[in-house]
Amino acid sequence: MQKRALGKLNANSSLLGLGCMRFPMKGEGDNSQVDEKKAIDLIRHSIDSGVNYIDTAYPYHGGDSEPIVGKALKDGYREKVYLATKSPVWKMEKEEDFEKYLDEQLEKLQTDYIDFYLLHALDKDRWEKAKKLGAEKFLEKAIAQGKIKHACFSFHDNFEIFKEIVDAYPWSLCLIQLNYLDENYQAGVEGLKYAYEKGLAIAIMEPLRGGKLAKNVPTDVQKVWDKYDVKRTPAEWAFKWLANFPEVSVILSGMNSKEEVNENVKILDKAKPNSLSKEEKQLIEEAKSIFEDKIKITCTECNYCIPCPHDVMIPTLFNVYNSGYMFENVQGSKDTYLRIKKMEKDASKCVECGLCEKECPQNLPIIEHLKKIEEELG
Ligand SMILES: NC(=O)c1ccc[n+]([C@@H]2O[C@H](COP(=O)([O-])OP(=O)(O)OC[C@H]3O[C@@H](n4cnc5c(N)ncnc54)[C@H](OP(=O)(O)O)[C@@H]3O)[C@@H](O)[C@H]2O)c1
Repeated sequence: MQKRALGKLNANSSLLGLGCMRFPMKGEGDNSQVDEKKAIDLIRHSIDSGVNYIDTAYPYHGGDSEPIVGKALKDGYREKVYLATKSPVWKMEKEEDFEKYLDEQLEKLQTDYIDFYLLHALDKDRWEKAKKLGAEKFLEKAIAQGKIKHACFSFHDNFEIFKEIVDAYPWSLCLIQLNYLDENYQAGVEGLKYAYEKGLAIAIMEPLRGGKLAKNVPTDVQKVWDKYDVKRTPAEWAFKWLANFPEVSVILSGMNSKEEVNENVKILDKAKPNSLSKEEKQLIEEAKSIFEDKIKITCTECNYCIPCPHDVMIPTLFNVYNSGYMFENVQGSKDTYLRIKKMEKDASKCVECGLCEKECPQNLPIIEHLKKIEEELG
């Protein structure tokens, strides 16, 4: 597996990392029922295939991701990987809470140390909060105690805030959302280059936009890919666009089958920096503009907005709505919406409390979107 330098650290990561936010599930759509055996198999299969960077977080799968990763990393697997997890900053009320959660995470992960410990999903407000509560002091202490190796952050806000955070502390690594649709979104390519110049390692999340760039792509996008001499899957195009940046250290993908792991390992083993031709770049631009015309709601289905206190299936509804336009089958979306209505989990159940909007890393106007969905599909 291709390895890349992790910023200024004397360490290399596999270019493909495993994101542990989308494990195989027992029942479709049930976010609380991870198929633990399959998930452990998948983690170990990834490591056996050359992946040496595993990324999880306190809230993933309702808190089940970390303990599953902990189990998977037994029997000698822990020593083979860099383990990254994230501090749930939104839960902190006082300075001591940082250490309390870190200790809980170490226990859940059954390890003595975390390699990359990220302040989770920083935006302007969360960064202010973290600073006020003494996050920097906590990180220093945790490093001195040997509980974490490197202080890091993950990010969801605009470039200006990104710059401010990068400049504020000697971070080792940052995790940003990037794919060919999000070139100028949040930190974007500008942020990637800025952090790289400052010596940070850069990990990438949502490289396939939560799978949307890879699965059931619209016919006119597929036609663009078909124009090229070499046949590639849509996932390969998306990964190659990212791997082309020498600044990228590790690309996290939330794979949930061994087939996906195998395909992604194969792609990212070969995808070298600065290797895309002018023609390839042009094709990607073409595909991008077709997508941009079709996607109505730019939800990545990270699921941060759920559970909704009124059970509205927010990411599912957005997916159903987008699919209707992307695949030119609005009637199909209406049929699915009717089934969701029968379960009383549809957009009309929204009471506009706004809790979801506070959690959304994409800052989507969820309430407005839900109203539109009810209007068009209901
Ligand atoms: N810190 C934060 O704020 C934050 C936010 C989001 C994500 N993350 C981290 O970043 C990781 C990566 O993000 P992501 O999970 O959104 O990654 P992603 O790679 O954009 O999306 C993952 C989905 O893509 C599909 N996929 C993967 N490989 C494929 C292939 N070869 N062909 C077709 N489809 C493929 C799978 O869909 P199916 O499930 O349909 O098979 C999978 O669930 C997360 O797992 C998490 O660890 C962090």
